[in-house]
Amino acid sequence: MSYFKENIENLSGYTPGFQPTDEDVVKVNTNENPYPPSPKVAQLLASFDVNRLRRYPAPLGDSFRVAAAKLNGLLPENIMCTNGGDDLLTIVLRSFCCGTRSLVYPAPTYSLYEVLAKIQNCPVVEIPWKDGYCLPKQELLDAGGALTIVCNPNAPSGSFIDPEEISELASLLEGKSVLLVDEAYADFAEGNCAGLVNKHENLIILRSMSKGYSLAGLRFGYAIACRELIDGLLKVKDSYNVDALAIAIATEAIQDQAYFKRNVELVKEQRTRVTKELESLGFRVGTSNANFVLAQTLSSDASDVFEKLKEKQVFVRYFPYDGLRDKLRITIGTPSENDKLIEALKEILSS
Ligand SMILES: Cc1ncc(COP(=O)(O)O)c(C=O)c1O
Repeated sequence: MSYFKENIENLSGYTPGFQPTDEDVVKVNTNENPYPPSPKVAQLLASFDVNRLRRYPAPLGDSFRVAAAKLNGLLPENIMCTNGGDDLLTIVLRSFCCGTRSLVYPAPTYSLYEVLAKIQNCPVVEIPWKDGYCLPKQELLDAGGALTIVCNPNAPSGSFIDPEEISELASLLEGKSVLLVDEAYADFAEGNCAGLVNKHENLIILRSMSKGYSLAGLRFGYAIACRELIDGLLKVKDSYNVDALAIAIATEAIQDQAYFKRNVELVKEQRTRVTKELESLGFRVGTSNANFVLAQTLSSDASDVFEKLKEKQVFVRYFPYDGLRDKLRITIGTPSENDKLIEALKEILSS
C-alpha cells in the first residue's frame, strides 16, 4: 500500500551530483565556480543585521529585481526572483503543464526536466538534437508541447545555439507553446537571449546565480520575460520563495560586474587549456560555451575512468544514459585542480 499518488510512487527522483564533505578533493562534478563569491558578499555577511530576519522578506525581491533589470537592459517587471534556477523550472512546469499539456525538449539535456514533468504527470516528448547539437526546430514545433525547453548552452554537451535561431523557434511556437530557454550557463557563452523577451510574448529565460557568480550554496536564480508572463508566474511561486539574506547577497553579487567578469574570463581561459590537454590525452571534446566540457573517451571505458578518478579523489560526472555512456562531464576548476585532474587521467590511461 502506498500513500503516494501513482506517478510519485513510480518516480525515480533526480540524482544530484555527489557532494563530498572533504574539502581536500578535486570536485569538478557539479559545475560550481572554483572561485569564491565577490568580496562584497563577505562584507555584507559580516555586517548583516540579524534583526532583519525577524520579518518576512520582500515577496518579489525588489532590490535584486532592479539590479537584474538594469544589467539586462529591461524593467523590474521583466524579472522574477527564484530559489535557484530549479525553482523557476518547477514554477514553469506547474504553470503550463498537466495531463494533456506536454513538455517538449531536445535531448540529451538537463535530466531534471523529465523528473519535474513526471511530478506534474504530463507527457514528455524528447526530440533528439540534430547532428552537431543543431536545433531541431521543425520537430520541436511538430511535437506540439504546451511548454518547450531549450537548454542553451546545453548541459551536458556545452553546445550553443545562436540567439537568432532561438528567436526563429520562438516565432514558430508563438500562439502554441511557451519557450523556456535555460540559460543557467549563459555567463560563459558568446551570447544570450535577454534582448529577445520584448520581441516574443512566449519567451521565458532562466538565469542562475550558481555558476558565474559562485553562489550555488545560496540558491538564487531568476526569470526574464515579458510583463504578462512574469505576472502569471508570480501567481504560482511560493509567497516568499527567496529569503532576505539571499536577496541581499544576490543583489551585491550581481552588482559587482568587474569581479564577475574577471572570474568568468579565468574559467574560459582554463576551459581552452583543459580542452587541449584532454584532446592530447585522446579524448574527443566538443566546443563548450559553459563552465564544463564533455569529453568522449575513445579508447577507454568512461565509467571505468570515472571510478578510477574517484579512487584518486577526483570527482567528475558520469551519466549512464543513452548518448552519454562513453563520456565524462568535467567542470572547469582552478589551474591547480585542473593540473591534478590531468595528472590523474594520465596515470589512469597509462596503466
Ligand atoms: C541546465 C541547468 N539548468 C538549471 C540549473 C539550476 O541551477 P540552480 O538551481 O543552481 O540555479 C542547473 C544546475 O546545475 C543546470 O545545470
